[in-house]
Amino acid sequence: MKAETKRSISSPFVKELIEEVIEDDRIYYDFGALERLRKQMEENKSTLNVNDLGAGSRVNKKQDRSVSSIVRTAVSPQKQCEQLFRLVNYLQPRKRLEIGTSLGLSSLYQYLPIRGASFHTLEGCPEIAEIAKQNFRKLRAEQIKLHIGDFADTLKQGLDELGVVDYIFIDGNHRFESTVKYFETCLKYSHSGTIIVLDDIHWSKEMEAAWEAIKLHSSVKLSIDLFYMGLIFFERPESTESHYRIIKKKYKPWRF
Ligand SMILES: C[S@@+](CC[C@H](N)C(=O)[O-])C[C@H]1O[C@@H](n2cnc3c(N)ncnc32)[C@H](O)[C@@H]1O
Repeated sequence: MKAETKRSISSPFVKELIEEVIEDDRIYYDFGALERLRKQMEENKSTLNVNDLGAGSRVNKKQDRSVSSIVRTAVSPQKQCEQLFRLVNYLQPRKRLEIGTSLGLSSLYQYLPIRGASFHTLEGCPEIAEIAKQNFRKLRAEQIKLHIGDFADTLKQGLDELGVVDYIFIDGNHRFESTVKYFETCLKYSHSGTIIVLDDIHWSKEMEAAWEAIKLHSSVKLSIDLFYMGLIFFERPESTESHYRIIKKKYKPWRF
């Protein structure tokens, strides 16, 4: 209800980001193949033995889960995946890290805009990771480096291999303490141009609290709340405000 549209934003940096990423409705060539892959998985009833090391699914807590149910409950929906694609395409970060691979669909959406540039992704469940690997092969994205294991071990491993990171997507283990801890670990490998995307910031009370704590961290210069995800920047070019809540203008057509 309180979110602003691009019409009331004066910062040229934030305005351009909204136009190029949030309001952009262009269909990219890769979207077709990615959504065909989602469809195939939605039809895949084979079961996986899932060991979820995180806060887990609110919908399905069973150990044996079908690929189809994982796609429907744990994987980011098409619109959000497309937004991640546009964000990466616009920012062109060369060294990228994803915390929470699941079946690899969001990894592919964020990898494909800059094929060849480094992309590391972390997943704790070996059987889910195996499907993600198959998906990377299907879309000829074998360069994505998949680290299998608890984030407690693999996060540092991935960050050390990358050295510094330009882009981080945090989408796993939605607990307050772990989310803040991952953020703080990532900070050590970040620079002023790094962007951190935090998924599901309003998913639970713990995630709301994690988002509040992170956006008020002394290193953060600019935050943008897009409701389903939040963006964190360590520089604030030509912007007077520090914290924005943004919604597409079509949802508030009366705002001029
Ligand atoms: C929400 S899903 C990721 C969805 C994916 N980014 C997408 O949109 O397609 C989170 C994943 O993180 C993994 N995970 C959660 N906590 C973990 C932990 N502590 N260590 C390793 N993996 C973990 C789960 O197994 C799950 O597959």
